[in-house]
Amino acid sequence: MSQPFDVLVIGGGPGGYVAAIRAAQLGFSTACCESNPYADPKGEPRLGGTCLNVGCIPSKALLHTSHLFEEAAHSFAGQGIKVAPPTIDVPVMKGRKDTVVNQLTSGIKGLFRKNKVTFLPGHGAFAARENDLWKVTVGTEEILAKQVIVATGSKARHLQNVPVDNKIVLDNEGALDQESVPEKLAIIGAGVIGLEMGSVWRRLGSEVTILEAMPDFLAVADQDVAKEAAKLFAKQGLDIRTGVTIGDIKVSKNGVSIDYDDKDGQAQKLDADRLIVSIGRIPNTDGLNAGGVGLKLDARGFVEVDGHCKTNLPGVWAVGDVVRGPMLAHKAMEEGVMIAELMAGQAGHCNFDTIPWVIYTAPEIAWVGKTEQQLKADGIAYKVGKIPFLANGRALGMGDPSGFVKMLASAETDRILGVHIIGANASELISEAVVAMEFAGASEDLARICHAHPTLSEAVHEAALACDKRPLHF
Ligand code: FAD
Ligand code: NAI
Repeated sequence: MSQPFDVLVIGGGPGGYVAAIRAAQLGFSTACCESNPYADPKGEPRLGGTCLNVGCIPSKALLHTSHLFEEAAHSFAGQGIKVAPPTIDVPVMKGRKDTVVNQLTSGIKGLFRKNKVTFLPGHGAFAARENDLWKVTVGTEEILAKQVIVATGSKARHLQNVPVDNKIVLDNEGALDQESVPEKLAIIGAGVIGLEMGSVWRRLGSEVTILEAMPDFLAVADQDVAKEAAKLFAKQGLDIRTGVTIGDIKVSKNGVSIDYDDKDGQAQKLDADRLIVSIGRIPNTDGLNAGGVGLKLDARGFVEVDGHCKTNLPGVWAVGDVVRGPMLAHKAMEEGVMIAELMAGQAGHCNFDTIPWVIYTAPEIAWVGKTEQQLKADGIAYKVGKIPFLANGRALGMGDPSGFVKMLASAETDRILGVHIIGANASELISEAVVAMEFAGASEDLARICHAHPTLSEAVHEAALACDKRPLHF
């Protein structure tokens, strides 16, 4: 057995690889093990976890291609650009996506070399506590470490009795890896994956129907935004049916047949060529031997941690999708940095109140902080500034004026409590709100800042002015 590492990270996704890099930067001898089946050209597991291999990055690559396709098919003509109706070569689209994934995942191996993180290919599992050290098996090897970070992430939740074959019944992996456009695509779950992947395949020509159990569409978002999104998605042709109860699902080699009750309790049937199941994700804690060493899990299998990602065991931490909180790559990375800095005796911190959310549909949806319904439920007095992109010159010039910016600020102190954007480039615009909230800014602070003209960010500026009932362009 080799020398003990200061830090061993189990799992090389955004939570794990970032924690490993930061720990190494702070002078800890650090190793990171990873056991996924996505092999790099050397036959080793690729780093980057769900996010880089089968999540954020490949989905955004397909969203980009399909958006260009739709623009060429439907928007070019209105701007005087005449092209023959476009056709899509799905294998080429998929190949480009795979190139992006390969580039980024191998880039992380480069970052490990640069920062002197030891990469250990293999599955990590706790073995024992020996002389204040953790013994962890990685594949067939035994590794000793002073501190261990569990960053094992999550996997797709599947429907009982409906096996995912990633040919007819797909989870996120199959949804990102199809060779052709299905004529009819059914999706169960109108959450983030359902909306993003539904958008990709609809733009490329599929007839997409999404079945959602909850009566409200996008219940996690501000309901003003959710209503606007429902209207716009319906106009695009996404058929979203809420309040359903899924019954029998029959799968054949040609497709699926789904029995369900609609929101009025009426029995319905949906036939489709393929089905995406996107009903949430579950933590990867099986196979860690958590029980063997007494690592506490909650009732749903998440590793129990405090606000600083400490578990119940000495020197054992956990980050990202495997712990409470939103399953977002940037949240996992923030936690990874926090842990490394806390280990080094620094003031590591993660502000869970300013984690932004983005849904990369068209228009994009992004928010940070409280929704209006949360403020009402909490009895907090607030004021609202809401500006449609129709009043924004840049949005009109881009031919993309749908949606709005909605700012919520304290009626008492003017402090910004939440910002909700639906519109073009919302994913980028939300950063200004995150910065303002992180600095405990007021709507007046944003209102007094000079914003470049003409930019979409002027809508954020106007929303801040509107909190004080003095917008200039609306
Ligand atoms: P993971 O990325 O899941 O990484 C965990 C890693 O640990 C995996 O590689 C796994 O193989 C490895 N592992 C597990 N157990 C062991 C073990 N015992 N030994 C060794 N290795 C192990 N988030 C966003 O913020 N923005 C997005 O746009 C976005 N898009 C997404 C799109 C899709 C389709 C999906 C599925 C997810 C998306 N997410 C997005 C969520 C994001 O991918 C996750 O929140 C993020 O990857 C979590 O990082 P993590 O490090 O906690 O876990
Ligand atoms: P989700 O939690 O976003 O949505 C799941 C949806 O399925 C919910 O609306 C839920 O009500 C519904 N549902 C659950 N069981 C159902 C059933 N039996 N029948 C019908 N509907 C049912 O989960 P999703 O879309 O699988 O994504 C997983 C996670 O991955 C997200 O929570 C998010 O954290 C992350 N992600 C983030 C993205 C981003 O940041 N842009 C993109 C994609 C995923």
